[in-house]
This record gives sequence, C-alpha cells and structure tokens, in this order.
Amino acid sequence: MTPSWSNLATELLQRFGDETRYAIPILQAIQTEQGYIPIPLLEAIASKAHHLQANQLYGVATFYSQFTFTPKGVHTIKVCMGTACFVKGAEHIVDAFKSALSIEVGETTVDGSFTLQTVACLGCCSLAPAVMIDGHVFGQVTPERVKELLKTKGFGL
Ligand code: FES
Repeated sequence: MTPSWSNLATELLQRFGDETRYAIPILQAIQTEQGYIPIPLLEAIASKAHHLQANQLYGVATFYSQFTFTPKGVHTIKVCMGTACFVKGAEHIVDAFKSALSIEVGETTVDGSFTLQTVACLGCCSLAPAVMIDGHVFGQVTPERVKELLKTKGFGL
C-alpha cells in the first residue's frame, strides 16, 4: 500500500523540526524507512514546511551517494569497477549482469528482484574480478558465470 506522503511529511516535520539544519536527518530517516527518497514526499514536506524547500532537499539528496531516488530491489548486486577488477575485465561482468537482468547500472528489475550497482573497490582485490550480492562476495567472476551465479546461489533468477 502506498503510504500517504502528506501524513508522512507531517510526522517527519514533527519528529525533526522545520529547519534547514534538519534536511540531512530527515533524508536519512526517509532513506532508512522507505528504502529510497520518494520525490512526492519531498514535495509534501516542502508544502508544509516554512524553512525546508523541495529543491534544497533534492539538492542535498543528490549530493550524497547514500541517498537514492529509486526503490531498491530485494537483492543488490555490486560489481566492483576498482582498478584490480577493471584490469581483469569487470566491464564484461557488468555487461553480463545487464544482459541477464535486462537493466542498466543503477536500475532495478521490473519485478523488484534485483538492483544493479557498480562500486569503486570491495576491498578484496586478490579475488578480482569481484562481485558482491547481498553482502556475499564472489571472486574470479567471469561473464559466463554470471547467469549460473544468479541461478545456483539461490538469488532466484
Ligand atoms: S578493485 Fe575490486 S575488490 Fe578492489
């Protein structure tokens, strides 16, 4: 059920206050509780607030990578594009995931199952090229292994 953005906006303003310094705490609460930043909610907050404006909230949300404007899928795939992984063909791994899931990087599959992201370094460069799915790291991934990985690891493709 879609939450009432108006009621949620009122509740957030009561919880945090209507001051520009509360923009980040409000956005963090939205990200945690909704899983993303719904634009209609920012507009509802701005329509009720005296000091917080929609373009200001939007500007802060676009500046910090912790905030996302699209709902995340049940499973999050992070393909490492750091130097060690890049030189070992990470681009081809990204392409294989894009093709297997029919989405671009940053998108979520239509059924809401998977979100595809790229990251700078997963911190396990000796396993390059590396992929993280829901916090599990997989190393020496090949394009050929991508579909098999999604099927056999129980991620439901
Ligand atoms: S560069 Fe990919 S894990 Fe470090």
